[in-house]
Amino acid sequence: MKSSFTSSFNRLRRCFLLVIILFALSSDVKAQLSTDFYQQSCPNLLKIVRKEIQNAIKSEMRMAASLLRLHFHDCFVNGCDASILLDLTDGEKSAFPNVNSARGFEVIDAIKSSVENSCSGVVSCADILAIAARDSVVLSGGNSWKVLLGRRDGFVANQTGANVGLPSPFDALDVIISKFTNVGLNVTDVVSLSGAHTIGLATCRTFSNRLFNFSGTGGPDSTLDSTMATDLQNLCPVTSDGFNTAALDRNSKDLFDNHYFQNLINGKGLLGSDQILFSSDGAETTSTKSLVQSYSTNSNLFLTDFANSMIKMGSIAPLTGSAGEVRKNCRVVNS
Ligand code: HEM
Ligand SMILES: *[C@@H]1O[C@H](CO)[C@@H](O)[C@H](O)[C@H]1NC(C)=O
Ligand SMILES: *[C@@H]1O[C@H](CO)[C@@H](O)[C@H](O)[C@H]1NC(C)=O
Ligand SMILES: *[C@@H]1O[C@H](CO)[C@@H](O)[C@H](O)[C@H]1NC(C)=O
Repeated sequence: MKSSFTSSFNRLRRCFLLVIILFALSSDVKAQLSTDFYQQSCPNLLKIVRKEIQNAIKSEMRMAASLLRLHFHDCFVNGCDASILLDLTDGEKSAFPNVNSARGFEVIDAIKSSVENSCSGVVSCADILAIAARDSVVLSGGNSWKVLLGRRDGFVANQTGANVGLPSPFDALDVIISKFTNVGLNVTDVVSLSGAHTIGLATCRTFSNRLFNFSGTGGPDSTLDSTMATDLQNLCPVTSDGFNTAALDRNSKDLFDNHYFQNLINGKGLLGSDQILFSSDGAETTSTKSLVQSYSTNSNLFLTDFANSMIKMGSIAPLTGSAGEVRKNCRVVNS
């Protein structure tokens, strides 16, 4: 016969288990990003950001490209936690892929201060980067998507993480693919997100290896269109400092469209890492090449895949719930 002690103990144990399960479920719910995260706490957030991006783009169209890239460089390093924004001497800003290259930090400061004026201490810098990236695409002619929100800002920057985790224009295709799979993205994401190079500029130092004596061949990269090679040789003489710039999407640098993929098919990709999606002969190229072909003829497919991949990229290892903090100033951790 069960003693009343054992049965009340069992009841207590069941009750305890239920509490644990409910707790686990509720903290699981809190840990998700959602589109309406700031609906109560900052109802005008999206309007405020959109207006700031419009202003920024009015004075310099390229800023759309620069802001889109900031979100990418944030998310690939320790997740989308605004780590790229921290002003630290050993921070991500001075990592190889970012130094003298990443730009748009003043625009993020301006957005943050407008947002703080309306809803102080509520909106993370990581979320501002995600909204700014979306608005930059939309205002350049791309498709919109619903931005997931609720990321919080990290306490550290990771310079080594930026140096090893961000793709380089000199990487082979299998290396680029593995840098994406390392953060949970796949080959479709590699190709669709590379389509971000439909806007913006790159400096000579990131592609001049293709122009003169490519891999000891005595001439330019044979996968590069010869007229374009001549133009770029003039833009990037061996004696220059490497900081002249060329459009990533030749002849369509401001419009967010599928012209970048048409260029790849015509040997007019700018970076080695762009052209290899179509032209390299490794085993991986089969799948990237057929995606390039599909995107080049089907702009709607590219724009939808791009939007979906941006949502995926924006969900890389976010800090949520009570992890991290909401920074007051995007450049420094709160004291
Ligand atoms: C696939 C691997 C990628 C490589 C190797 C790569 C590399 C580069 C390089 C070297 C530049 C020029 C930087 C300079 O000269 O200062 C650049 C610019 C840019 N990248 Fe990428 N990138 C990649 C993927 C992406 C992704 C996934 C995005 C966004 C979703 C992106 C967005 C941009 C934009 C918009 C620019 C132009 C920025 C401006 O004009 O300020 N890139 N990228
Ligand atoms: C920095 O990034 C590297 C490579 O992704 C990772 O192994 C390391 O744990 C990160 N360090 C910090 C402090 O987050
Ligand atoms: C990549 O992931 C998406 C879902 O996020 C999926 O639709 C797509 O088929 C995947 N691509 C590859 C090549 O596995
Ligand atoms: C090109 O590079 C190769 C190997 O580095 C070298 O032997 C050759 O002399 C170079 N050719 C020219 C024209 O500079």
